[in-house]
Amino acid sequence: MSEPSAHSVPPALAAPTLRGLDVETHLRTPAIKQQYVTTMFEMIAPKYDRFTRAFSFGMDVAWKNELLAHIRPTLRTDAHVLDLACGTGDLAAALARLVPDGRVHGIDAAPTMITCAKERGQGIGNLRFDVGDMMRLDLPDESQDVVTIGYGLRNVPDHRVALREIHRVLKPGGTLANLDFALPEPGAWRWLYLTYLKTMGDVYGWLWHGEPEVYGYISRSIAHFVTLKQLAADMTATGFTVSYESPKLNGGVCLHVAQKT
Ligand SMILES: C[S@@+](CC[C@H](N)C(=O)[O-])C[C@H]1O[C@@H](n2cnc3c(N)ncnc32)[C@H](O)[C@@H]1O
Repeated sequence: MSEPSAHSVPPALAAPTLRGLDVETHLRTPAIKQQYVTTMFEMIAPKYDRFTRAFSFGMDVAWKNELLAHIRPTLRTDAHVLDLACGTGDLAAALARLVPDGRVHGIDAAPTMITCAKERGQGIGNLRFDVGDMMRLDLPDESQDVVTIGYGLRNVPDHRVALREIHRVLKPGGTLANLDFALPEPGAWRWLYLTYLKTMGDVYGWLWHGEPEVYGYISRSIAHFVTLKQLAADMTATGFTVSYESPKLNGGVCLHVAQKT
């Protein structure tokens, strides 16, 4: 790997627990949102994979496979791929197998996620992981062929800043593939969806961590995020052409694929 290894590291964790941190205040205040988010993902990192499979009833795996299947036909085997908010590195590891002559670089703000990802990536030569912030990537302009993100944009203080940063590091014509929760259009389904996720998240949080806020965060973060149409509009405004939009759960989740223009 010839790219720089130093990355801008997110704000230091101020608290080892979410108790005493008000989630709503953090979600609506970009200057302090990252502190809450990184503290939470540090806490859940060791159980993250098991939780995700259980909470999504396995749908997460199918959606990530759809992402991979969609970009695979145009993915060169020597491509440089950046997986942002890589978490424990499942997507990055799968991508590394698709680009045997290229390389995959996973970046995440939570150091414990990166520790888990490095364990997963042991023995995969074209894969590396670093702690970093997708809103301030320490990577050269136009250095990446593909950027992938699984459930990441919703968690950053300003997803539009992250989109601009992704646009900067992608080569002209490069591809962004983004899978995330989205805010359903206003109406009964939005209310039902957020209420279900909040209730189930609180239950899982109590059972798995003794803190309901841990997973109740999911519905709250969606409520502060944008609809899939708005996200596509934000991509377009940043300089991407959205080529594929695949809504799931009636607009509660979406896979977007876009090219840098
Ligand atoms: C819901 S997890 C998704 C993990 C993985 N991509 C997946 O699909 O399972 C969201 C991840 O975003 C990371 N994250 C939050 N803010 C970030 C930022 N500013 N830059 C990079 N990663 C960030 C968190 O640490 C967390 O690991």
